[in-house]
Amino acid sequence: MQNKSNTTGVGNAIDRVEGHLKVRGKAKYASEFTVAKKVYAQGINSTIAKGEIVSIDASEAEKLPGVLKVITFKNAEKLKTHDKEMAPIDTTSIAPVLQSNKVHYYGEYVGVVVAETFEQAQYAARLIKFNYKEDKKPTINLDKSRGKAYKPTEKSDYARGNIKTGLAEADEVVEVTYNTPIEHHHPMELHAVIASWDNGKVMAYSSQQIVEDAAISISDTFQIPKKDVRVVAAFVGGGFGSKLNVERHVILAIMAAKMVGKPVQMTVTRPQMFTNTGLRQHNEQKMRVGAKKDGTLTALSHETLSHTSPTLEYQEPCGMVTKMLYKVPNNLVTHRLIPMNIQTPFAMRAPGEATGSFALECAMDEMAWKLKMDPIDFRIKNDTQTDLSENRPFSSRLLVECLRIGAEKFGWKDRKMQPRVHKNGNWLIGYGVSGASRQSPYQKSHAKVILALDGDKVNATIQMDATDIGTGSYTIVAQTASEYLGIPVAQVTVELGDSNFPVTPGSGGSWGAASYCNGARAACENAIKTLKGNRNIKEEEEVGVADLLKQNQLKTFEAEGSAEPSAAFKAHSVFSFGANFCEVWVDKDTAMYRIKRMVNVGAAGKILNPKTAYGQIIGGLTMGAGMALAEQTRIEPNFGNFITRSFADYHVPVNLDMANIAVVFLPEEDKIANKMGVKGIGELGITSVAASIANAIFNATGKRLRDLPITPEKLIEAPIEPGINV
Ligand code: MOS
Repeated sequence: MQNKSNTTGVGNAIDRVEGHLKVRGKAKYASEFTVAKKVYAQGINSTIAKGEIVSIDASEAEKLPGVLKVITFKNAEKLKTHDKEMAPIDTTSIAPVLQSNKVHYYGEYVGVVVAETFEQAQYAARLIKFNYKEDKKPTINLDKSRGKAYKPTEKSDYARGNIKTGLAEADEVVEVTYNTPIEHHHPMELHAVIASWDNGKVMAYSSQQIVEDAAISISDTFQIPKKDVRVVAAFVGGGFGSKLNVERHVILAIMAAKMVGKPVQMTVTRPQMFTNTGLRQHNEQKMRVGAKKDGTLTALSHETLSHTSPTLEYQEPCGMVTKMLYKVPNNLVTHRLIPMNIQTPFAMRAPGEATGSFALECAMDEMAWKLKMDPIDFRIKNDTQTDLSENRPFSSRLLVECLRIGAEKFGWKDRKMQPRVHKNGNWLIGYGVSGASRQSPYQKSHAKVILALDGDKVNATIQMDATDIGTGSYTIVAQTASEYLGIPVAQVTVELGDSNFPVTPGSGGSWGAASYCNGARAACENAIKTLKGNRNIKEEEEVGVADLLKQNQLKTFEAEGSAEPSAAFKAHSVFSFGANFCEVWVDKDTAMYRIKRMVNVGAAGKILNPKTAYGQIIGGLTMGAGMALAEQTRIEPNFGNFITRSFADYHVPVNLDMANIAVVFLPEEDKIANKMGVKGIGELGITSVAASIANAIFNATGKRLRDLPITPEKLIEAPIEPGINV
C-alpha cells in the first residue's frame, strides 16, 4: 500500500528524524555509553617496521597507581589465528592480536595497558620498554620491491578478446601510468569500544559499520558461540570502510576486560588511526587505451600494482570499472600485490571505483585529446547497455543521459578543446569531465515492525541491526515505514545498530539504503497483509492501519519481513551511474589553483530522500576533491613509519575548496534492482571527481598530472604536453 498524499513517505525531502538527537548531543556514540565500573585501555605501538620483540620491561608502569594490567604477547589470551600465511581479509575475518613476538609493520600493537583512568593508562603506556631485534631492511618501497609482486588469492584477473590484437588495430594508443598514494579513512568519530564480559558472554559498544559481522568476528576470534556476543553501534560517526570489520582494539578491549574482570573502554587515538585502522594502499595503475580515428575503442587494459601486509591479503579491485564501463572488444585487467611492512590495507571510500575511475577516466580524456574529439562524445560513442564482463544487461544505465544533461547544466559548450587559451588575467581556466559508476550490491535484509494503537493513531517501531554511519539510515527507514504503513514519520520510531535485532548487511559498499528500506518495507507489508488476512479483507482494499488493529481487536501487533535480491537482480548488472563536471582556475605563475564550480549528475534509482541523498553526494565529492587536491599519507623511507600523523599534516578539503556545487539526480526507478527501485548512492559521488579535476587541469594548463594528489608544487614542475602552445 502506497499513499500518494503522504508528505513524509519515501521520496520526500524531510529533515533527519535523528537530527535533533545529534545537535543536542543525545545521539550516543560508542564511547558515550554509561557502563558501571569501566576502566581504560591504551594500546602500545611498535617503533620498528620489522623484527622481533626480545624483551619487555613493564616494571615502572606496573608500579604506578591505578594500573591494573599490562598485556603483551607474553600473557595475552591465545586466540584463533589464521591457518595460512596471507589469508584474505574480509568483514567477518578473525582478528588475532598479541599472539607472537613478531613485528610486521611500524605501529603494530605490541601491548596494551589497562588502568583506572584514561590518563593513567596513557602515561603508563609510555613507560613500558620494548627491546627489539630489528630487521633494518623493511619492505616499504613499492618501486624497489617489484620483484616480490604476486598474484592475489582473490581471482581478479580478467580478459576478453585479445589486448595485443586490439592495440594493433588501433589508430591511436595511449599508454600511461597513474599513481594514487596511501590514504587514510579518518571518520570524525575515532574508533572506540566499551567491552565487558558477563557469564561468558561478551557485550561490546563498538563503532562498527556491520554489527552482525562484528559479532561473527568476535565469536570466531575468541571461540565462543555467536549467540553469546552482542554488538551495539547505535550511532556511528563515519566509517568510510575502516569500520567494516573488527579492528584489533576491539579484540584487545575484550581480552583486557576478561583479564581484569571489569568493563574496558578503549579509544584509538587520531595518530593511531594512521597505523591501526586500515588504509587505502598506494596503487600504481598502468593503462593502455587503443582507439580508431573515429573514436571507436579497440583495446582497454588496466594493470594495477599495490601492496598488502606480510600476513593478510587485501586487494583493492581498481580494474573492475575498466572491464564493464565501455564497449570495447579487447580488455585486460590484472592486479598484483607486494607484501610490504605496512599495515594491512582495507576497503576505503568506493574501493576499486574511486582509484580505478581516476585512472580510466583520465586515460579516456588523454585518448579523446589525441583524437581531437570531445571527451563527452568519445564516451557516448563507446557506451554499452550490456555489461560485457558478465555478458548480461545492466538493470538500468543512464550514463549517457548523465553526461548530456550535465553538459547542458554546466555549459560545456563553452569549453575550448585547446588548453591554455581560455584565460582571465593570470588565471588559466579549464573544464573537465568524468563518468562515474558504482556497483549497487543490494543484499538480504530483515526487519521487525511493532505496531501500537494509541487512541485513533498507530505508533510504529522498526527494529533492524542496520547502522547509521552519518548517512541518515534512521530517516530513510522511518520514511519507508511511513510510506508502507500510511502513517506520518512522527509516529515512527526506528531502532538500529544492535546485533540482537533482525539481521541486515549493515552499512558499506553502497548497499545500505536499498537493503534496509526493502527489509523495512517487507515487514510493514507483512503486517498489513496479516491484519487484512485475519479479517478477510481484500489486499487491494484501502483500510488504515489503525482501523486494521481495531478490527482485529488488537492493541499491539508485531510482524517481521525480509527482502533479498530477486532472480531478475541476479540476471542483471546493477550499477548506479553519474558524471562530474568541473571548472578549475590555475594561476599561471604559481600553479595555485581553485575548483571554481562542479556540476554532479547521478542516476541512482529512486531517491529516498533528496536531502540525505544530496548529503551523500556532497560528501563523496568532497572526498574525491580530497583525493585530487590534498590527501596523502607520507611514509618515512628508511624506517617505515608514517610522517603524517595528524590533521595538521594530512590535509583534507575545506569549505572554500568546495564552494560552488550543483547536484542533480535524474528521475529513475530501477524495479529490477529491487521493489522500491532504489540503487546505491553512498559511493557514487567520489568515483568521478579526481579525474574530472585532473582533466580540467589539463584543459587549463596542457599538463597531465598522473600522480595524486595534484599539489601546486607538482603542477608547476610538470611539463606542458608536446604540441600545446605556451
Ligand atoms: Mo565502504 S569502503 O564499503 O564503507
